[in-house]
Amino acid sequence: MIPPDIEADTRAYYRARASEYQEWIQRQGRYAHGSDDDADWNLELETITQFVESLSIGSVFEIASGTGWWSRVLARNNTVFASDYAPEMLAEACRHDTPTLPIYRCRADAYHLPLSTGAVDACAFGFWLSHVPVPRAPAFIREAARPVRPGGELLVVDSRQDPKGGAADQHTGGPRVQQQLRRLNDGREYTIWKIYWTPADLRFLLSLVCRRVEVIQTDRFFIAARGTVV
Ligand SMILES: C[S@@+](CC[C@H](N)C(=O)[O-])C[C@H]1O[C@@H](n2cnc3c(N)ncnc32)[C@H](O)[C@@H]1O
Repeated sequence: MIPPDIEADTRAYYRARASEYQEWIQRQGRYAHGSDDDADWNLELETITQFVESLSIGSVFEIASGTGWWSRVLARNNTVFASDYAPEMLAEACRHDTPTLPIYRCRADAYHLPLSTGAVDACAFGFWLSHVPVPRAPAFIREAARPVRPGGELLVVDSRQDPKGGAADQHTGGPRVQQQLRRLNDGREYTIWKIYWTPADLRFLLSLVCRRVEVIQTDRFFIAARGTVV
């Protein structure tokens, strides 16, 4: 049954999934698809990691940082202020962080950032935009750019629509904008928005607030973009 409020179900899903979340990026358990597909994944993940690591700008505010996988990549070259709605995700992220990394974590709603205008050099979000309902996307992008100084950067990483991009029992086919059924390891079910944004979509969205937008895709799994905030 589809829940009445899919965004509330998305928040509840990620709170409950925090302790098993990294199985996805590390292709473990239900997220393993066999050596060929997992080798493709790891190769493409390396490309995206290099893209994220190339952002070396100063202070970065990260939205919906989850367990902090990308915070730790961003922190190789920046001071990172990483936020998430889910306290469980923040706790999990702190567990993975090391004290020498310049990462400061806080709880925040992606649609109402706790920052003044122009306060940071960049804003980044990984695998979050694909959960933002299409009608909310322009306002979200404007809110993400608001705390970035002119000349700073927006950076986004997200999913391409590949049947082996999620859990083995997860159905990813069908339209690019979908209400997707997700299961936890214990069988609990949730419905979330999943939007497979195209390069043209990302270019359009970032162009609302940026000049010089760059979009890259890997062969199967990932899409990423960067733009200079005006
Ligand atoms: C797919 S995970 C991405 C996590 C991380 N960025 C990564 O790539 O590993 C989506 C994240 O969005 C968070 N989230 C859900 N609703 C949110 C909201 N309204 N504001 C901020 N974060 C939210 C979830 O708690 C979860 O950590």
